[in-house]
Amino acid sequence: MVIEQDSAAAAPIAAQLVHDLHVLIKAAAVYGPNNAGYLQHSARAGATLRKALEDEGSVQLESRDEQLFFNRLRIRFPTEGTAGARFLMDEMKRRGLGAVEFSSTCDQAQLDAFAFAFNAVQTRKGEGLDKLRGLLRAAGAAAVAVQKIAETEEAQAAPAAGDGASAAKKTFTRALCVVEDIMAQARAGQPVDFVQAKRVVHGLVDRVLEDEQALFELTALRDYDEYTYAHCVNVCVYSVAVGVRLGLERAQLAELGFGALFHDIGKVKLPLALINKPDEFDDSEWETMRRHPVLGARELLGMRRPYDRALARAVSMAFEHHLKADGSGYPRLRQARRQDVFSRICALADSFDALTSGRVYTRKPLAPDEALRRMAEDADVAYDPALLVLLIAVVGVFPIGTVLALDTGELAVVRRNNPGDLLHPVLEVFADANGERAAVEAVDLSLSGAQTGQPPREIQRAVDPHACGLDTGALLARRSP
Ligand SMILES: [Fe+2]
Ligand SMILES: [Fe+2]
Repeated sequence: MVIEQDSAAAAPIAAQLVHDLHVLIKAAAVYGPNNAGYLQHSARAGATLRKALEDEGSVQLESRDEQLFFNRLRIRFPTEGTAGARFLMDEMKRRGLGAVEFSSTCDQAQLDAFAFAFNAVQTRKGEGLDKLRGLLRAAGAAAVAVQKIAETEEAQAAPAAGDGASAAKKTFTRALCVVEDIMAQARAGQPVDFVQAKRVVHGLVDRVLEDEQALFELTALRDYDEYTYAHCVNVCVYSVAVGVRLGLERAQLAELGFGALFHDIGKVKLPLALINKPDEFDDSEWETMRRHPVLGARELLGMRRPYDRALARAVSMAFEHHLKADGSGYPRLRQARRQDVFSRICALADSFDALTSGRVYTRKPLAPDEALRRMAEDADVAYDPALLVLLIAVVGVFPIGTVLALDTGELAVVRRNNPGDLLHPVLEVFADANGERAAVEAVDLSLSGAQTGQPPREIQRAVDPHACGLDTGALLARRSP
C-alpha cells in the first residue's frame, strides 16, 4: 500500500478503539444484545468510535503485515494493548477480512450489528467475508464496509513510497481506471463503487504528500485518449496539493480529493456527443452543459449511500464549482450563496486544468503560465485570490510544460518545480541557440554552475508553445537520458 508513513503513527484513540472493539466482539460472542454486561462494553466502544469519527470523518481499520493501521497510519500500542490487536488481526484473517471501514453515519446499532455479524461467521465451516457482508446488509449496517484481504494486498502491491515517478504513474493510472469505472457505473444507473473511489483518493493523497511533482508531470502530459477521466484525476491532484498548503488535515484532504474526483459527475447525464464535441458549443449546447452542477449534486444524492461528510462535501463541490467567487457563475440562484472553501479550491483546479487542456471551455489550450495570468486577471470575480496564490505555489510560477527562452538563446520545457525555489525550476533544454533540435539536456536552475558543471543559464521569458508549433505534451513524454 502506498501509505507507509512510519514516521507518523495513528492517534492514541486508534489503540483505544482496537481495544474496545476486541472487547466488544468477545462480549458479543458470550452475551446477547440486551445483556447488561454487553451493553456496557457496547456503550464504551460506541463512545470511542464516535470520538474517532468526529476527529476523522470516517475510520478504516486495516490488518496487514502483522500490524494494524488506522486510516492508513500504523497503530502503536502500549504493551498492554497488544493482546487485543493480536486477537483482532487473527480473527480478521480467519474471516478473510483485510479492513473494516466505519463511515461517519455509523451509530451504536450498526456497531452492535457488526459485532454480532462478526461472531456469526462460522470460520470452521469455511464461511468468510461474503457471509459477513450479507449479515451486515441484512442488519441495515450500511455505514460499515468490509474489504477482503486480497483487496488490501492489491493496494499493497502499489509501489512503496520513495520510488517517485513510477509510483506516481501507477497511482495515476489506477485513478484513471477507477474514474472510468465510476463514470460508466453512474451512466448506466448502477451503484457507484465508493470504496474503490475512496481508496484511490487515499493513494493520490499519499503521492501528493510524498512527491507531488511526479504527479504534476503526469497531469501536464495531456496525451490521454479520454480527457474527461484525466480531468477528474488532475483536478483531484491539484485540489489536494492546494489543500496541503492550506494546512488541511489528512482526513480533510481525503474529503477534498473525493469531492474533486466527482465534481463533474453530472456530465454523465449529458449526451456523450455533446461532451466529446470537438467544435465550439452553440448557445443551446452551453445551456445544456451548464446543467451539470445541478445534475451532479442530484446524482450524488441519489446514490443511496450513507450521507457522510465526504459525500456532503462532494455534493456541495459538484453544485458550486462553477458558481464563481462573486456568485455570478452557474447555476443561477435566487439567493446569493458563497462557495464553500472546498468548492473554491476545486474551481481553481478545474479552471487551471480546463484552460491548459483546451478541451472544454476553450478550444485552444493555453500555455500554463498564460492560464495562471488569465486566472489572476479574473481573481476577485471568479476565484478566491488567497487560494489562487496557493495554486501558484502548487503549480509554480512556471508550471510544468511551460516553454522558456533562456539567456543562452536555448529553448527549454519545465519538467519539475523546486517547491522551495519556484523561480528556478528543473528544465529540459531541447533546442539550441540556432533553434536546432538539441540532445535533451536536463538542467536544474536552482543549482549553481559549480554544482552541476554546466554553463550558467537564466530564464529570459516564457514562450507561447503553440505560436512556435510546439507540442508540450510530446516534449514532456520524452524523458531526458
Ligand atoms: Fe464542471
Ligand atoms: Fe471540471
